[in-house]
Amino acid sequence: MALYQIVAEWTTYLTFYLLCAVFIAFVGYCLYVWHIHQKYDHIPGPPRDNFLLGHIPTFRREMNSDRVIHDRFLEWTEKYGPVYRINTFHTVSLVVSCPEATKEILMSPKYSKDPLAYKRIFHLFGLRFLGNGLVTAVDHDTWYKQRRIMDPAFSSSYLRGLMDTFNERAECLMQHLEVIAEERTIANMHRMVNCVTLDVICKVAFGVDLDLLKHPDSPFPNAIDLCLQGMIQDIRDPFFRHSPWNRKKVREIQEAVKLLRTTGAKWINQRRKAVENAEDVPKDILTKILKTAEELKADGEENHEVMLDNFVTFFIAGQETTASQLSFAIMELGRHPEILKRTKEEVDEVLGTRRDVLYEDLGKLTYLTQVLKETLRLYPPAVGTSRWIHEDTVISGFKIPAGCSILFSSYITSRMEKFFKDPLKFDPERFHPDASKPYFSYYPFSLGPRSCLGQTFSQMEAKVVLTKFLQRFDFSLVPGQSFDIKDTGSLRPRSGVLCTIKHCAKSTF
Ligand code: HEM
Repeated sequence: MALYQIVAEWTTYLTFYLLCAVFIAFVGYCLYVWHIHQKYDHIPGPPRDNFLLGHIPTFRREMNSDRVIHDRFLEWTEKYGPVYRINTFHTVSLVVSCPEATKEILMSPKYSKDPLAYKRIFHLFGLRFLGNGLVTAVDHDTWYKQRRIMDPAFSSSYLRGLMDTFNERAECLMQHLEVIAEERTIANMHRMVNCVTLDVICKVAFGVDLDLLKHPDSPFPNAIDLCLQGMIQDIRDPFFRHSPWNRKKVREIQEAVKLLRTTGAKWINQRRKAVENAEDVPKDILTKILKTAEELKADGEENHEVMLDNFVTFFIAGQETTASQLSFAIMELGRHPEILKRTKEEVDEVLGTRRDVLYEDLGKLTYLTQVLKETLRLYPPAVGTSRWIHEDTVISGFKIPAGCSILFSSYITSRMEKFFKDPLKFDPERFHPDASKPYFSYYPFSLGPRSCLGQTFSQMEAKVVLTKFLQRFDFSLVPGQSFDIKDTGSLRPRSGVLCTIKHCAKSTF
């Protein structure tokens, strides 16, 4: 037999066996998916779009139509109850809105963060992104070592010392707004508060002055935007990265990740040198990041990468959320003149004609605090958190076999009539100090050991910025703009909150 015939024969055999192997693997995988369906199908849930893809086609449709995916989850919660199932390939996630289970699971260190969800943002399109930083660390010990070191940078005594920076950065915004008021141009409030919150976190966490309002061409705000977009696309649409139409976007996102991590490496090196030269360095987040790395190094872990993970974590978590809260608050105040009037009266009473907000003022701004809390009820910027179920458990009477993840969303529970009467009405009275506290149905900062480390920091910052703004300016929303939410990984106002502003008649500045 000629050589080419032997080769042709073997090629035919090999192709045949390969196809058989692929076919058997495919059937095996389908059987596994079927087995998973059998295991969890006693839990109610919307019909799957597809046996293998589960609910992925619905997620893709929602994303392509630019809707907030959590509105779909809310509809499903109303229809299928306090615990329902979502399938994607062989994985199952449960969406839980029952307060008792929320309390039990989120408050307990026993339930770790969902490794599948958080590992997906360990890397972003092949580049290390949030890695093993504070938000994404799943292993309890790795997380705890970091949190223990970081906690003092968020103690009330340390935060008190940040009031000057909050005031100073807010003052830059006020000066910028003064020009806008004089020139009678339109203010995109979201864009501007975004600059302020990024300035604040860079100054207090890393000791760096960005002064973004004076440098509108800075690449950082856009890099954060791109990273958030990439994160959410990759989590909700596993096909996004593979589509040739998205190649350009993926490259842009990779460049954004590189920019954040190389900036982190540069700033960390500068600080390390300052420490080596025995210079006087602040006890800020960057110093804690260096300390965390030393601690992890003692355990032989990959300390350099974890430092960069935490740099990126604080760069993003420390900025985007507070900016969204502030711009949604301004949007709602603009829509509710009575609430705006009352908030301004309180600001005038507490601050009078004084320029800077003092730490002692913060506790007196009761109604403004209610406004900020109500804003987070309707618009929680970091919408959800998920936990992994390691052992069989029971939720709302349903047996939940181990090996699935549970999604908790403050967006869903905060918009349910069951927990908040007339839920879509913006009503700060819900958070009146004498009103009963929502029972595990309102948790914009998450709950328990993995709750937000920056909660107090962010609310101090938000109060200073909002107070100064209301003290100095009258504003109205530009007519015709949308009040919709844009879901970009965190929630933000779609329109950017466009305002016309003018000096308050009473303002002496
Ligand atoms: C309105 C502002 C903010 C909101 C609504 C918010 C919300 C949240 C939520 C929901 C989580 C849990 C995330 C998860 O489980 O995956 C979280 C975690 C975290 N946040 Fe915030 N956040 C805000 C501001 C900040 C700020 C200003 C900082 C830093 C200065 C910060 C730092 C963190 C950190 C480090 C974690 C991880 C905590 C841990 O697991 O130990 N956040 N935040």
